[in-house]
Amino acid sequence: MSLPVHLQSRYLPLGDQRTGRLYGQDVLSVSQFCRDDLEYIFGVAEAMRTMVAHIGTVDLLKGKILANLFYEPSTRTSSSFAAAMERLGGSVIQINEVRYSSVAKGESLPDTIRTLESYADVIVLRHPETGSAAIAAQHGRKPIINAGDGIGEHPTQALLDLFTIREELGTIDGLTVTMLGDLRYGRTVHSLARLLSLYNVRLNYVAPEILRMPAELLEQLNAKGVHQAEYDTLDPVMAETDVLYVTRVQKERFADISAYDAVKGAYVITPETMARFPSRMALMHPLPRVGEIAPEVDSDPRAAYFRQMEFGLYVRMALLAMVLGKA
Ligand code: NCD
Repeated sequence: MSLPVHLQSRYLPLGDQRTGRLYGQDVLSVSQFCRDDLEYIFGVAEAMRTMVAHIGTVDLLKGKILANLFYEPSTRTSSSFAAAMERLGGSVIQINEVRYSSVAKGESLPDTIRTLESYADVIVLRHPETGSAAIAAQHGRKPIINAGDGIGEHPTQALLDLFTIREELGTIDGLTVTMLGDLRYGRTVHSLARLLSLYNVRLNYVAPEILRMPAELLEQLNAKGVHQAEYDTLDPVMAETDVLYVTRVQKERFADISAYDAVKGAYVITPETMARFPSRMALMHPLPRVGEIAPEVDSDPRAAYFRQMEFGLYVRMALLAMVLGKA
């Protein structure tokens, strides 16, 4: 049973904000946000965190329905959006196994979107093709939230990554962020680097030659005056790193599996590696990990990846509330 509305508002001072930021909008790319938007989202996410800690669930989105449409595997993104909707009192249509839906009969993405928006108020979409969320948004009337479009973007992950950095280190300006691993196919780092370019940061990219950050992204950020440097080992950047953002080599994006095998174990973070980083820093990973961070590192206070996935719940609650005009 949830608390009476007058008590809920003590924990969540949010009202009907149909003129509010993001109301009725799609969330397709981090490029749509300015720093002011981010501060606003993080403020709402903080309120969500307090609310969950105190009362767990509210009625803010009672009667609203989310369609969670996943054409690619997901644990965290899918279940945190579902939990976010339910903690706000809404409900969820979950489509994980598109092979059991009409997609398997050959239905196009626009038709599937038209179908789901006749039942739901907002659609969260993960799809293997870059640009698919934008295509869905062109054909849809209801807000589309991009939960990963191939190797393109993963904007809600970048928002929760930034929220995590802020929670762990208290600031974003002035930091040096080192991204490690699959910078070519990893959509999380594509979104995160773009979002960080709104702040005064230094970005280091550490990757094997075949997994370097796309040249187009390097150029975009260069044009904005962002300090970026590329390396193939961690050694030169360890002492200056405030945030180490580790990624999984994206096996599913490789056409040639022997090329994957050649780079899959390129970097592994162990307690010995951690001993060479500053005592105050944050080790992050969007997860799932498949060997890039040894489990022995989990007890290191700098290992932030499990807190990071929890923060995803609060950020996604904030986004749903805002898009549906309640924050
Ligand atoms: C990431 C993704 O799907 O891009 N996972 C996630 O959403 N937390 C990272 C990955 O799969 O490696």
